[in-house]
Amino acid sequence: MSVKIAPSVLAADFANLQKEVEMLNASAADYIHVDIMDGMFVPNISFGLPVTEAIHRHASKPLDVHLMIMDPDRYLPAFRKAGAEVLTVHVEACNHLHRTVQYIKDLGAKSGVALNPHTPVGVLENILDDLDLVCMMSVNPGFGGQKFIEATFDKVRKLRQMANERGLTTMIEIDGGVNQANAPLLLEAGADVLVAGSFVFTSKDPIATIKQLKEIG
Ligand code: DX5
Ligand code: ZN
Repeated sequence: MSVKIAPSVLAADFANLQKEVEMLNASAADYIHVDIMDGMFVPNISFGLPVTEAIHRHASKPLDVHLMIMDPDRYLPAFRKAGAEVLTVHVEACNHLHRTVQYIKDLGAKSGVALNPHTPVGVLENILDDLDLVCMMSVNPGFGGQKFIEATFDKVRKLRQMANERGLTTMIEIDGGVNQANAPLLLEAGADVLVAGSFVFTSKDPIATIKQLKEIG
């Protein structure tokens, strides 16, 4: 198994976004993680469609778009058009998650569902078979640079067991506070995609840091 790395541009230098995206193109990253925040579902506002399009214009890696927005159905076609390969919505932000997931599939994107730290994995029981990816939040969404919540390990183990029992190859992505210390433990627990924002972008040599994470698994 080889771990996939998804650096989050939330921690990039927005004034030099093209340069940052080109750096990611040249790195061992598998995805570019794009965090969309609406100031309602989460207390912060990040950026939206025009910036996602601009990232896509320069990116040679697929965009993994994490929608931290209420009622995401409203924007799914637009983000797909802006270049999203994976569209991830929050279970806590959807009244009709099954419909939303079918909508993502109809748009030809990979379907992702994210869980906040307080949301038990059991909530996925009747939707897991339809998902390409589960994004397990290991911080409360809204900000980069927060401390990793240790209870995540248990949730990852449970979810991996749920997926194994059904013979599913659903990707389990970990988002928030990922670093070199917790990355090997996350892989051991059953994760296969690691999002990393500040750990990558505040490091002296982001390309080397991505490579380090990639070489863990
Ligand atoms: C948090 C975002 C994360 C964030 C991760 O709401 O979903 O993707 O950018 O940043 P770090 O790795 O700094 O915790
Ligand atoms: Zn994210």
